[in-house]
Amino acid sequence: METWLITGSNRGIGLHLAQQALHNGYTVIAACRNPDGARSLWELEADYPNKLTLLKLDISDPESIAELPNQVSAKSIDVLINNAAIQSDPGGPCDSLSQQNMNKVFNVNSTGPALVCNALKSKIVSAKIIQISSDWGSIEDTGATDYLAYRMSKAALNMYSRVLSLELPKAICTSFHPGWVRTDMGGPEADITPLECSQKIVSAIKKLTTKHTGMFLNYEMQEMRW
Ligand SMILES: NC(=O)c1ccc[n+]([C@@H]2O[C@H](COP(=O)([O-])OP(=O)(O)OC[C@H]3O[C@@H](n4cnc5c(N)ncnc54)[C@H](OP(=O)(O)O)[C@@H]3O)[C@@H](O)[C@H]2O)c1
Repeated sequence: METWLITGSNRGIGLHLAQQALHNGYTVIAACRNPDGARSLWELEADYPNKLTLLKLDISDPESIAELPNQVSAKSIDVLINNAAIQSDPGGPCDSLSQQNMNKVFNVNSTGPALVCNALKSKIVSAKIIQISSDWGSIEDTGATDYLAYRMSKAALNMYSRVLSLELPKAICTSFHPGWVRTDMGGPEADITPLECSQKIVSAIKKLTTKHTGMFLNYEMQEMRW
């Protein structure tokens, strides 16, 4: 049975992705910063005994990432979902950019996923490697100037995913825009629930083939503009 590893799985889209993966019969490694406080994951663990492992991972911390290969006993991972991310300060025009905010956001949203892939390199040679990106990372579709650091970090993540697809010819490396989702990040006005989002994303991941590697898709598997 397939093993899925999902970062930022204690709440929001990540939690629902873990739930959906379990619901589909997969074994899940749920990575999060604080497993001891991840109440929703404990509940899932009780519902799916022996199918869910909790793992401590802070993707902004190189020491935590370095521990990752030792913590994953599975020989290979079938699906890696780099979901964890943070929103930036709203910011505005380019001249309001702060280096501190920029570094913090890039560290989590762009560098973190890349270092997670590096750490798991030997286990993801033939995996589906999913980056949860955003339409806000689309250069072609940008029509606003706010949240600049976040937009830039997701554009960088998309570039990483494309490059990785060239480096790992046996893997399927795909970026996804998850939609505008009702989570702490998306807010209460968002279009869809995390349940709807996760159902669509898991269904899309199941359908991915080698023709989707290097692509940027929405949850309906339609191509997003770069
Ligand atoms: N919601 C939307 O409308 C929307 C739209 C487009 C794209 N996205 C993308 O979808 C993904 C999930 O977003 P969401 O809406 O579920 O956000 P969320 O509700 O804010 O959840 C973010 C998750 O990332 C984790 N995280 C943050 N920093 C981390 C770190 N350094 N190490 C490990 N985990 C960390 C959080 O863990 P803690 O609880 O420890 O903070 C939390 O589990 C993100 O990549 C986001 O950019 C969301």
